[in-house]
Amino acid sequence: MDGRVTSLASRKSTAIAPSRRALVTGGSGFVGSHLCEKLLAAGHEVVCLDNLVTGHRSNVAHLAASPHFSMVIADVVDPVALDVDTIFNLACPASPIQYQKSPIDTLKTNVMGAANMLELARNKGARIFQASTSEVYGDALVHPQKETYWGNVNSFGPRACYDEGKRCAETLFYDYHHRFGVDIRIARIFNTYGPRMNREDGRVVSNFVVQALTNEPITIYGDGSQTRSFCYVDDLVSGITALMSRDDAPTSPVNLGNPAEFTVRELADLVVSLTGSRSPIIHLPLPLDDPRQRRPDISLARSCLDWAPRVQPIEGLVRTIAYFDSVLSGTDLKETAS
Ligand SMILES: NC(=O)c1ccc[n+]([C@@H]2O[C@H](COP(=O)([O-])OP(=O)(O)OC[C@H]3O[C@@H](n4cnc5c(N)ncnc54)[C@H](O)[C@@H]3O)[C@@H](O)[C@H]2O)c1
Repeated sequence: MDGRVTSLASRKSTAIAPSRRALVTGGSGFVGSHLCEKLLAAGHEVVCLDNLVTGHRSNVAHLAASPHFSMVIADVVDPVALDVDTIFNLACPASPIQYQKSPIDTLKTNVMGAANMLELARNKGARIFQASTSEVYGDALVHPQKETYWGNVNSFGPRACYDEGKRCAETLFYDYHHRFGVDIRIARIFNTYGPRMNREDGRVVSNFVVQALTNEPITIYGDGSQTRSFCYVDDLVSGITALMSRDDAPTSPVNLGNPAEFTVRELADLVVSLTGSRSPIIHLPLPLDDPRQRRPDISLARSCLDWAPRVQPIEGLVRTIAYFDSVLSGTDLKETAS
């Protein structure tokens, strides 16, 4: 692995410009690592750029043996010069615990990172993807959320660094497309789960699974009647690659998520039953600005990309439980995660 990790300075002097050379920012995070894997399998050269703030080298360690994979340790807040023809901009901590640790960095990552990647795309004539989020809808007043809904977002609160940062990034994408003709794609990603989620970042699926496997109390914030829709990571990655590979795909934001809606309480009960856990369920206060309901309307993705989630919730949860079981028991399932 170490032999393939390149500093930005040394990479700049290397003039390699094969076609289908994809840059994945945030590539050693949860979603990014699955995306790198899928792109490599599809025959791309993959450059994974990450500052490892929430990502881990171990997430991509199994890809290091490939001559078509390389890793650059860098921050998207700084401009980059790389020879790529496709850019996937995923860099940004995704969980509230992580993105609120250093909110100004989160905002800079979203805004300056997007601007730097758009400049790179403009210079290279590259198609560029932005990982946006359902959080741009805020505490939505309309259900399910269509792309045409403008959202209900608090600009002055603890989640704003993420929500407003992602909204601003969308605006930058809009302006680079209209002003400079940059070839853009944007996905508004809804809650995604699966192997390689960080067990300590407080996301509901990983929390419940780890708590259930260790027979610790399962912590529900609020009364558990709030709903979420959960998309398995393989489905999300298929949606992202469909959006990027089709010339006729929309340049406006497209929702990617699984419309199957669960209350948080139902999810907790399902995890307990699938793990056979003895964990009790306990309730803690609901965090500020926590959305009550989240559910994507994916009719645009269905019609334009011919995409819909295929992995059933129980199947996805069983795979995720197997992954965390292996992590907790010290057996590495990373390579066989999906
Ligand atoms: N997982 C979800 O449910 C979800 C939902 C909506 C949107 N998203 C978006 O998808 C993307 C990936 O999310 P994830 O779940 O894999 O999160 P993650 O935290 O596992 O991965 C994010 C990656 O970005 C890297 N990163 C963060 N700031 C960086 C910076 N300034 N420069 C370089 N690298 C940086 C991290 O080290 C990490 O590897 C994020 O942009 C997130 O906002 C994810």
